[in-house]
Amino acid sequence: MFEAAYGMENTPFSRDVPTDKLYDSPMMQEILGRLKYAAERQMFAVLTGDCGTGKTTTIRRFVDRLDKGKFQVLYLSDLKLTPRHFYKGLLEQLGSEAKFYRGDAKRQLQREIELMRGIRGIQPVVVVDEAHLLDKENSGACHSPIFVED
Ligand SMILES: Nc1ncnc2c1ncn2[C@@H]1O[C@H](COP(=O)(O)OP(=O)(O)O)[C@@H](O)[C@H]1O
Ligand SMILES: [Mg+2]
Repeated sequence: MFEAAYGMENTPFSRDVPTDKLYDSPMMQEILGRLKYAAERQMFAVLTGDCGTGKTTTIRRFVDRLDKGKFQVLYLSDLKLTPRHFYKGLLEQLGSEAKFYRGDAKRQLQREIELMRGIRGIQPVVVVDEAHLLDKENSGACHSPIFVED
């Protein structure tokens, strides 16, 4: 309704704004450049900002533009992410059923990532959205991901 009143073609602030239709600010370009830098070097990056400032949206755009022949994105956004769920969530996205015990699942994930890198020549990019909700134990479980925090 208000869209027509303001002459808008689409509804603003929806979660599924196509990433090529986003407002392209210099800040967003800077963030995208830094995320690319971190992904290419398999570094650890933290993206922080107030609620609703576009962190998840920027990540969405980053993921859409990432070279799928070089990188595989593993995305987690879980309020109560235990270490076991962290490994399970990543393994599921890699098409593997996680072993029950946390230590086994961790080794299983390491093996999957070695295979991904060694055989398929693909680097993992782990995105943990809503990462401010992680507890201490969990943060330790996450290696070389991109964290998104409010
Ligand atoms: N660059 C942008 N251009 C247009 N709309 C945007 C942009 N960034 C964010 N938004 C809008 O703002 C809303 C909130 O952004 P979101 O990424 O969910 O914020 P955060 O993750 O920081 O809480 C999104 O649903 C989207 O509709
Ligand atoms: Mg968000």
